[in-house]
Amino acid sequence: QTCLSTAAVMATQTCVTTASISKEETLSLAGHRHACHVMLYANTKAKLFGRTPIKHIVLMQMRFDGLLGFPGGLVDPSAESLEAGLSRELKEELGVAVPVSPEDHVVSCHAPSCPTLITHFYVKKMEESEIKEVERAAVTMATDHGLEVMGMVRVPLYFLKKGGGLPSFLSHSFIGNSRSQLLSALQQFSLLSQGELDEAVRQADQLRQ
Ligand code: GTP
Ligand code: MN
Ligand code: MN
Ligand code: MN
Ligand code: MN
Ligand code: MN
Repeated sequence: QTCLSTAAVMATQTCVTTASISKEETLSLAGHRHACHVMLYANTKAKLFGRTPIKHIVLMQMRFDGLLGFPGGLVDPSAESLEAGLSRELKEELGVAVPVSPEDHVVSCHAPSCPTLITHFYVKKMEESEIKEVERAAVTMATDHGLEVMGMVRVPLYFLKKGGGLPSFLSHSFIGNSRSQLLSALQQFSLLSQGELDEAVRQADQLRQ
């Protein structure tokens, strides 16, 4: 693997927030690998401690390497469509082959750590009952449970004292550009306001110092 040199990371750093490529264009690139990941979310009326609205259920996972990331994985576009490959990975990691359609695609770009890896990101809204079923299946049905996936986690979207909640969550370590994918999806799908996101990132930066 030549993918982890600092130079490579620097050369592709702008991909994290800017240089997106059309999905179609990436499929015409020779010698690239493709990874597809999805943010599954649902609205909810549930309240933490009976008073703090949790607003939305957003699923990520604790990976085998101790990093947080989204469910999904490597897809070979010569063998399967990106969406079918993503659904196959979801079957392995969540125990349910959650169908993902081309309309759920949000953005594609080069991975920050590897110029020959393209990351495709999808967002899919579900019903609260469906998300809860996914959470159950991830423990009872997923072949990767306890192996490649240590467990699914919900992203806390609220603010508690001393950076608790979203700022603390954002201060952890994430695979690839999944932290940026999370922040941009929360913004794009209006799950939090821009002001809340800016404040969460500001507090997370303080916690990390
Ligand atoms: P194997 O089954 O072991 O092949 O793993 P996988 O197919 O599940 O692949 P994985 O989910 O680890 O993703 C492949 C690559 O994509 C990783 O090596 C990371 O560099 C990158 N990656 C993993 N998770 C994410 C994510 O949430 N977002 C982004 N952008 N990249 C990710
Ligand atoms: Mn996998
Ligand atoms: Mn995976
Ligand atoms: Mn895989
Ligand atoms: Mn390239
Ligand atoms: Mn695997």
